Amino acid sequence: MTEPIRMSTREERERWVGEAHYNLFALRSDQVMIDLLTDSGTGAMSQHQWAALMEGDESYAGSSSYEHLRATVEELTGFRWFLPTHQGRAAENVLFTVLVKKGDVVPGNSHFDTTKGHIEYRGARAVDCSIDEAFDRENPHPFKGNVDLEKLEKVLKEEGDRVPLVIMTLTCNTTGGQPVSMDNLRKVSALVHRYGKPLFIDGARFAENAWFIHEREEGYAGRSIREIVREMFGYADGMTMSSKKDGLVNIGGFLAFRDEELYRRATTYNIMFEGFITYGGMAGRDMNALAVGLRESTTEEYLAYRVRQVAFLGEKLEAYGIPVIKPFGGHAVFVDALAFLPRIPREQFPGQTLAVELYLEGGVRSAEIGALMADRDPVTRENRYPAMEMIRLAIPRRVYSDNHLQAVADALYNVWQRRETLRRGLRIVEEAPILRHFTVKMARV
Ligand code: F0G
Repeated sequence: MTEPIRMSTREERERWVGEAHYNLFALRSDQVMIDLLTDSGTGAMSQHQWAALMEGDESYAGSSSYEHLRATVEELTGFRWFLPTHQGRAAENVLFTVLVKKGDVVPGNSHFDTTKGHIEYRGARAVDCSIDEAFDRENPHPFKGNVDLEKLEKVLKEEGDRVPLVIMTLTCNTTGGQPVSMDNLRKVSALVHRYGKPLFIDGARFAENAWFIHEREEGYAGRSIREIVREMFGYADGMTMSSKKDGLVNIGGFLAFRDEELYRRATTYNIMFEGFITYGGMAGRDMNALAVGLRESTTEEYLAYRVRQVAFLGEKLEAYGIPVIKPFGGHAVFVDALAFLPRIPREQFPGQTLAVELYLEGGVRSAEIGALMADRDPVTRENRYPAMEMIRLAIPRRVYSDNHLQAVADALYNVWQRRETLRRGLRIVEEAPILRHFTVKMARV
């Protein structure tokens, strides 16, 4: 599939971004030239996926497409019990309805915003136990997605019965698409199980995580991606999945469990929120395409191309002297907005300001990962300022060429050249009580 790119002028973009109230989610896609807002659902499917799509079985119950997908997930992950959902946050909603209640505490490695949103919506708290290196931009630690075992044990000890589960996000999107090592996963699993808690993996980018283990962890260079994936999930009791990333499809998600009992409890809510247990919000054709996508994303050929393309962009930016998070992530390059725009105070959202400047410069859409996305504290209602203020350049899978990414690097370089002139940030005019960044309205300070 190819899509035309509509070229635009700076004057047009000035007008459009104003009409969008400086919220890039509010732009129309034809107002964007290169769209790095997200790698979620924006990938291109292969001919094998399109062929599988044509063979979709749309039976309400017991379709062959469901069985195809269930068997693929079991083979790849080892999880026998499976529920489709319409996307990742829907899987979170079902799982947390079963497990999380008011006053609970859910530790993990920098939870993704929808995960945190679903936890906080239930009056519970997400506690970040990431290693300190995760928040140090230049630190070359190969597995910045790791959990600090001491921090985690402290929470498990102090909170006791208030901890219903522990979640490990692979790769960890929030800290820069950073992987978790097999060693860390093994130790976290042992610790969590010693306290009698279930460990769940948010597997949205599990294949990219496996690639980094293959490349960076001693003893795994000779192991296949599928073997690594199987071992990773072997340490967990279940998973939530957004299939829009490493599933290589445009929509979909799922839950998978080792334990039948938990699966049974989740089925009720899956039926209520998503759909019957053999489709859960997905069309048969989409389940078929996903089964093929999961196989494609767990090959070395695909992953080598994928992660190298992300590094291509990262290396260009680094060569221009632009402050980027190192090592480069699996799905995106993250730019340090505090180092880029030190004159803009945090109350004026330097991450969002930089994202707007990049759009004005080159028609490139990126995403703020900073104070805007961090929402207000649910109790004090004060703005929360995370350790880092970033923009994320997320690369859709199998869509852009290296030339497109060169254009992105050049546009950001032009902003970098005039960074001294950028002294005014943005302020919030209107915001939702939770997940505000999607719909926020802003104005120039
Ligand atoms: N977990 C992780 C780690 C994610 O990155 C996302 C989505 C979700 C869960 C939720 O999945 O979108 O299918 O409901 N991340 C997208 C992003 C939106 O742009 O990073 P979903």
